[in-house]
Amino acid sequence: MHEYRRLLDQRDPEQKLARGIRGRLDGIGYCLSVVVMTTTLITGANKGLGFETARQLIAAGHTVYIGSRDAERGRRAAEQLGTRAIQLDVTDDGSVDAAVKAIEADGGVDVLVNNAGIQEEMGDDNVVLGAADLTADMMRKTFETNVFGTVRVLHAFLPLLQRSIAPVVVNVSSGLASLTRVTTVGTSTYAYPGVAYPASKTAINMITVQYAKAFPNMRINAVEPGFTKTDLNRNTGLLTVEQGAENIVRIALVGPDGPTGGYFGAEGIIPW
Ligand SMILES: NC(=O)c1ccc[n+]([C@@H]2O[C@H](COP(=O)([O-])OP(=O)(O)OC[C@H]3O[C@@H](n4cnc5c(N)ncnc54)[C@H](OP(=O)(O)O)[C@@H]3O)[C@@H](O)[C@H]2O)c1
Repeated sequence: MHEYRRLLDQRDPEQKLARGIRGRLDGIGYCLSVVVMTTTLITGANKGLGFETARQLIAAGHTVYIGSRDAERGRRAAEQLGTRAIQLDVTDDGSVDAAVKAIEADGGVDVLVNNAGIQEEMGDDNVVLGAADLTADMMRKTFETNVFGTVRVLHAFLPLLQRSIAPVVVNVSSGLASLTRVTTVGTSTYAYPGVAYPASKTAINMITVQYAKAFPNMRINAVEPGFTKTDLNRNTGLLTVEQGAENIVRIALVGPDGPTGGYFGAEGIIPW
């Protein structure tokens, strides 16, 4: 009961608990049932998988912030979905800190989807550069967004997530992160020649595991959406964004008893 009170006090009663608190004092005990609205932030949600994830989570009843490094692109995407936009460049401390303040003032966040990502080694000709062409600059640029960006956002939003009754973090990884798959001869993952992108996603998997251990009250998982037709791969993917986003949404919707520290795709658990 005290825990409930404490949690209730931390939340904006109008925004978070508008869907009803039923209390009954019957002389024996206090019976309280709460239906909490879930607020979700998705980075890089102005297009691609992030945008579609936002659409599906809104349909599932979430209040969603469309994170976008470009304010105008974010505004247009949010308008299309009838939701809110937040300017958020994952490589920029000032942008992330301002987003934290704005979302905190608005009532906080329950679910964080770290979706923003780049695949630097794929050129305009759809050719993925391999190890022979990898430069430190390419590696740094990739990690700047995919790895340091994710950690920057996670670190900044942890205090808000910790105030949530059921905090969830989804780190959008990739099947290319799996060392098992990358070393399984004869698979498409084995055949992928790039280094920076898969290395950044393997780092995301490690970050997921370590954060999940550090914050057992949160559900923190890595997700492989599948090879999806988006700008990231010059629309060469095989899945539609609807199909790819479903895999992200499933993990975004895990409850407090759901898995944490896992790596999931369409077929369930993926080998590390
Ligand atoms: N598509 C696939 O087959 C596939 C497979 C496995 C994993 N993934 C992962 O899925 C996630 C989404 O990718 P996608 O396929 O939907 O690609 P996408 O259509 O290119 O979308 C990427 C999103 O990330 C944003 N972004 C890039 N750098 C950013 C930064 N510094 N700050 C904030 N946002 C930034 C982009 O914003 P702008 O519009 O401003 O560039 C865009 O909104 C990525 O993490 C990707 O690695 C994709």
